[in-house]
Amino acid sequence: MKILITGGAGFIGSNAANTFSQQGHSVTVIDNFSLGVPENLEPGILCIEGDVRDMSVLKKADAPDIIIHLAASSSSPMFTVDLSGALSNNILGHIAVLEYAVAVKAKKVLFASTSSVYANNPVPLKETQEVIPTNFYAVSKYAQENISRVFSALHGMPIVAFRFMSVYGPHEEHKGAFANLVSQFIWGMEEGKSPVIYGDGTQTRDFTSVHDLVSAFELAITADISGFEIFNVGTSEAVSVRDLVDIINAEREVAIPATFIENPIPSGYIQNQQADLSKISTILGYAPRVSLQTGIRELITLRKENPIRPQGLSF
Ligand SMILES: NC(=O)c1ccc[n+]([C@@H]2O[C@H](COP(=O)([O-])OP(=O)(O)OC[C@H]3O[C@@H](n4cnc5c(N)ncnc54)[C@H](O)[C@@H]3O)[C@@H](O)[C@H]2O)c1
Repeated sequence: MKILITGGAGFIGSNAANTFSQQGHSVTVIDNFSLGVPENLEPGILCIEGDVRDMSVLKKADAPDIIIHLAASSSSPMFTVDLSGALSNNILGHIAVLEYAVAVKAKKVLFASTSSVYANNPVPLKETQEVIPTNFYAVSKYAQENISRVFSALHGMPIVAFRFMSVYGPHEEHKGAFANLVSQFIWGMEEGKSPVIYGDGTQTRDFTSVHDLVSAFELAITADISGFEIFNVGTSEAVSVRDLVDIINAEREVAIPATFIENPIPSGYIQNQQADLSKISTILGYAPRVSLQTGIRELITLRKENPIRPQGLSF
């Protein structure tokens, strides 16, 4: 199968690109390297450098069967630095990719929405809950969902939006301070730094291995989907940030205490995150396979073999 992955040099994209390439698919990546790095990609993957908002860049790719659209301003703080640039990236980029998908008659488009659209809805989070995004990142992803719904209906194009929970895994070093807490805590604690926790550490996250995400992509590619669908992807386990530090300490056989500070995020901070997986398990047959302990052990082992220097930390 010919698979085009936008943002494929980034964290999630490179894990997907490498897996699909190893499985024998023909994988092309488009990335402008605004954050991702070509070193994340294994040999055999065609990498086109450029911006997805530029149709002439998209047209350089051999017409794909499947498009996995991940190129985006991928974190809420990026919208504080450059609001119009980040909104343009996520909304105009999304429209360009969908127009391209229709032009080349792609069979299906999968793209990254986010669990951030749920804001502080009660957990477990369900796709049927009313969502009112409370930050511009979530606004941009909710816009992508709504644009996709109309696009799918107008053009008969199967489009799948994934609301990822908190994803961690290999190849996050380029994200630095934008990376998931799991990775940032591991990097800091490797240097003996105390992980900094906002508030009392009882806030929970559904920490999800990127390998489980890639398995969700695989299932969606082969599934019989005709219109627009939204699926949560997570583990359905809520782990407190306090417990996360304990797990990393246990896996590293150390006892670095956390530092607790007043939460500096003025409003909209997400207190609890936990996916309800009924829809994705029923329709796609998805089941998470990587426990947080196993995922953390993988990262610690990989970093012993190849200690790539992260692009900074948020603490
Ligand atoms: N990591 C998570 O926990 C998480 C959770 C929910 C949703 N997402 C979404 O998943 C997707 C991938 O996120 P990630 O964590 O891999 O982040 P990432 O920043 O590592 O990946 C995004 C990639 O897109 C590239 N890019 C950005 N704008 C581009 C453009 N206009 N044209 C071409 N390339 C461009 C960047 O260089 C980067 O390589 C994003 O859409 C993000 O919003 C991520």
